[in-house]
Amino acid sequence: MISQELNDQLTRVNPGQPAGEVLRCYWQPAALSDELAGPRPVVPVTLLGEQLVLFRDNDGALGLIGRHCPHRGADLCYGRREDNGLRCPFHGWHFDRTGQCIEQPGEPEGSRMHEQIRTAAYPVVEKNGIIFAYLGPGDPPPFPNFDCFRAPGTHVFAFKGLWECNWLQAMEVGIDPAHASFLHRFLQDEDPKDSYGKQFRDSAADTNIPMTKLLRDYPRPEIRVDETDFGLKLTALRAMENGLTHVRVTNQIFPQAICIPMSREMTITQWHVPIDDETCYWYSMFTSFTQPVNKELMREQRLKEHRLPDYAPLKNKRNDYGYDPAEQARETYTGMGLDINVHDQWAVESMGRIQDRTQEHLGKTDVGIIRYRRMLRAAIAALEDGDEASLPMRGAADVAALAGPLSNDAIADSADWEAASLRADAERRAACPWDAKL
Ligand code: FES
Ligand SMILES: [Fe+2]
Repeated sequence: MISQELNDQLTRVNPGQPAGEVLRCYWQPAALSDELAGPRPVVPVTLLGEQLVLFRDNDGALGLIGRHCPHRGADLCYGRREDNGLRCPFHGWHFDRTGQCIEQPGEPEGSRMHEQIRTAAYPVVEKNGIIFAYLGPGDPPPFPNFDCFRAPGTHVFAFKGLWECNWLQAMEVGIDPAHASFLHRFLQDEDPKDSYGKQFRDSAADTNIPMTKLLRDYPRPEIRVDETDFGLKLTALRAMENGLTHVRVTNQIFPQAICIPMSREMTITQWHVPIDDETCYWYSMFTSFTQPVNKELMREQRLKEHRLPDYAPLKNKRNDYGYDPAEQARETYTGMGLDINVHDQWAVESMGRIQDRTQEHLGKTDVGIIRYRRMLRAAIAALEDGDEASLPMRGAADVAALAGPLSNDAIADSADWEAASLRADAERRAACPWDAKL
């Protein structure tokens, strides 16, 4: 458990808050490209507690500026898309993509007041279906050469979903390899043929053991955590019969993403992005190492579970996440259906909007969470000392050269698990139709 003061430091995201300042040192997902696909490409974005409006101008260029007009606060989401910016419908003040006011058509002729008026504006970059924004000081860091960014657009599908809780507890479920044996347990195994686009439904590594069975049969993983240039590498070892070990490698990408295997074909890179202190979006990039991603099918699967335009899950605390005690007795550990996103959502939302970590009791299998909090505290301390360069991926290492990360399942002789995991990754990369070599 930690003190209330530390819990506040690690969770709060508004400008000036310690964790918020760390998150601002990195590119943050702000919207899906899909959200700007309609006839009017203008969407409200609340990110790290800041109210913004994202738009594409008539030339196709993206802008992200303050949502409330600096004149008297009207909502620029209703702005007129003109020239290279937005014009406020209230009195016609016009803002360009840099946030500069360039016209005040109701002010006296020759007025130069507009030169003094500027609203917030942040750099934005589109990568494989997600629009990233940089809300921090100085120049944004380069993007690493991770698989989700270097794979061609045909091999990456992006989606998002709303969770009604603080970003940190959302992220912490992703660095907790032990929960998969319980929270996501299926009491019956599904035919892996029906597994496309779903997590934990494939068979494990190169076997015909369903992942569901493996996770169920071996619930006590040994978890190893290694520090890397991008964050943490987590290795969960499950000792099986006959001298075999299941090795599952997942990653924490600082400050608030994870990269995990989804199936033998795909990995998931997922950011847990604060809307404000008490709500967050997960943004995922599903990256295929074999065939192009079937985006229509994956979108359709997920749109059945989410409402637009806010991507709120249809199962949520207002309908008890679809909880069915009969199902819990016979089919699933949670009684909340087969979609593992709902399980994770229940786990993190049911803690409360901001988990009260003064009451928690971390065990040995929470080692990833413990190590991550240590990194976040170190980053907060470094920023307070003005030493931004010592943050992961902010100075020391050659960020643009960072590739991977290795993220897969393997089954190997227990003595050989480490080499077997590297081998399985190398084989997948060698057979990949796009250049996935490390
Ligand atoms: S409030 Fe926007 S122009 Fe007046
Ligand atoms: Fe999970």
